[in-house]
Amino acid sequence: MAVVTGAGRGIGQAVARNLGERGATVVAIDLKNPEETVDLLTSGGHTAIGLTADVSDPEQTAAAGAEAIGRFGKVDILVNNAGIFPFYTIEELDYDKWRRVLAVNLDSQFLMVKAVLAGMKKGGWGRIVNLTSNSIITAAPGLSHYMASKMGDIGFSRGLANDLAPFGITVNAVGPTLTITPGVREIHPPEALEAIAQAQAIKRNALPDDLVGTIAFLTSDDAAFVTGQTIMADGGYAR
Ligand SMILES: NC(=O)c1ccc[n+]([C@@H]2O[C@H](COP(=O)([O-])OP(=O)(O)OC[C@H]3O[C@@H](n4cnc5c(N)ncnc54)[C@H](O)[C@@H]3O)[C@@H](O)[C@H]2O)c1
Repeated sequence: MAVVTGAGRGIGQAVARNLGERGATVVAIDLKNPEETVDLLTSGGHTAIGLTADVSDPEQTAAAGAEAIGRFGKVDILVNNAGIFPFYTIEELDYDKWRRVLAVNLDSQFLMVKAVLAGMKKGGWGRIVNLTSNSIITAAPGLSHYMASKMGDIGFSRGLANDLAPFGITVNAVGPTLTITPGVREIHPPEALEAIAQAQAIKRNALPDDLVGTIAFLTSDDAAFVTGQTIMADGGYAR
């Protein structure tokens, strides 16, 4: 069984769909009921359920993990994808905004690992992929809080790889470039998207499906000896 957070739309939805197509039972978790993702999967003949939870909340993540394990037994795959990316200068940033970004983008990855770990250890095999971002290298203005959270995701992944290797569990981070998702469309003007495409080696904007192959590999048997790594699946922007 595969758990995907932020699976209601965007990259998380594409990853959930791909995992279902590869034979996984999918537990799609999102702040808003991820019914569209569940419909996509079940109408394709795959098994999926949706859970509504705020993955920055300790009680809600514990409950979601317990429900996933209660329904399907062992957890094979966890993709920690949920994230938010508001732009603030340091003057605009206050402590509450800072805490919210750190909680959703970084605390959530820790909380979801804690929520599913017992179910993953059961199988003696596991794959954890944490979404980071190539912005930790490309450093767009107005993202200091976001970059701190996404650097944290890499540090967490690298450290956790040590702790979980004895259990047959790998942990890796994947960093997209700017990817055309509903979240990005809400905040980025079209001209900014074109400028980013031109800065990449591959000069077109990424779509959610551009991430699924890298995550499919890292969650497969073939990646058994790959852990603690960060892969920028970003069209060669951070090159
Ligand atoms: N799209 C990009 O350009 C881009 C670039 C680099 C990294 N990323 C990372 O990829 C991930 C997905 O981004 P996206 O563009 O698909 O985002 P999106 O905004 O399109 O979708 C994110 C989903 O996560 C859910 N979500 C947000 N906060 C949540 C919470 N507290 N609990 C549960 N669910 C929550 C939202 O409801 C939404 O369905 C994020 O971690 C983001 O930081 C995205």
